[in-house]
Amino acid sequence: MAKKVLITGGTGLVGTVLAKLIVEKGDLVTILTRDKNRTSKHPNITYSFWDIDQGIIDKEELLSANYIVHLAGADIAEKPWSQKRKKEILDSRVDPIKLIYNYLNNNPNQLKAFVSASGVGYYGAITTNTIFEETATPANDFLGETCLKWEQAVDELNDLSIRTVKLRTGIVLAKNGGALPKMMQPFKFGLGAALGSGKQIMPWIHIDDLAQLYVAAIENDSFNGAYNSIAGNVSNKDFSKMLSKAMNKPFWLPNVPGFMLKLFLGEMAVILLEGSAASNQKLLQTGFNFQFADLEEGLRKLVGE
Ligand SMILES: NC(=O)c1ccc[n+]([C@@H]2O[C@H](COP(=O)([O-])OP(=O)(O)OC[C@H]3O[C@@H](n4cnc5c(N)ncnc54)[C@H](OP(=O)(O)O)[C@@H]3O)[C@@H](O)[C@H]2O)c1
Repeated sequence: MAKKVLITGGTGLVGTVLAKLIVEKGDLVTILTRDKNRTSKHPNITYSFWDIDQGIIDKEELLSANYIVHLAGADIAEKPWSQKRKKEILDSRVDPIKLIYNYLNNNPNQLKAFVSASGVGYYGAITTNTIFEETATPANDFLGETCLKWEQAVDELNDLSIRTVKLRTGIVLAKNGGALPKMMQPFKFGLGAALGSGKQIMPWIHIDDLAQLYVAAIENDSFNGAYNSIAGNVSNKDFSKMLSKAMNKPFWLPNVPGFMLKLFLGEMAVILLEGSAASNQKLLQTGFNFQFADLEEGLRKLVGE
């Protein structure tokens, strides 16, 4: 029988590719969105309006879902991190889980697993030689604390005997959204260079692999708990060089000074200027195979597509 997967925030970068993959496999998708007017062109994808602050959610859709994938959340890189924005980034990830928890707790339902996004930001915006494993303690900075509270909200669902999975995702590389098109801009104008020290590590994953990973986490009951969801780690300098090569554009020395990025972006500049490696050993032990494990090849395809 076809499975029914409810995706929160499924209109975004990851959700769009994931929804397509799920329906191609013959299953059904309902996407929870804040957009009342959204209509579907695919017979097996339904859009359902929700308003988290007002507690509005389609009860029927929620209680009949076999799996929930939680992707909703305000974009961490869209606006400077004022106190108000920081609260929005956190609340938009945690409040939907609380809303869903309350419905599931009080009603009979079909839910088998809740698979949530999280980020390698769990380990903090710091540049160290440590390769972080899932057992590491979360960082004390904004992203570390956000990921911790996000994951703690997910863990509450274990009380309802629901299997929970948290995919601590690195930078998602995609042609039509996320970080890559933004990183390509200066290279397009022949002005590409490494950022800051260039030594900061960027854990990364190709969008198609991430979508496959969500499907694996849904289908494979042995997925449980947190997984670093990355294909590899690369320094910002090496990444920038590979990107210049893939785009056939010059790579400039010296690097873009960190203070300039801080001037424009404020505290948020840490997402560009800092980063440590994460280990994907736990993920590989599940038997998951990456289609794009080679960054140079992945970039060539994404840039050339
Ligand atoms: N992309 C990456 O590189 C990356 C890396 C690590 C972790 N992640 C995490 O993975 C998840 C999915 O990533 P993504 O790149 O697909 O994100 P995305 O493109 O920004 O999509 C997220 C969706 O969340 C909904 N949303 C936005 N602001 C919201 C708010 N204030 N309240 C409730 N819903 C809101 C939007 O859907 P509607 O407008 O339809 O409601 C949006 O389409 C996110 O939680 C993200 O933090 C992503």
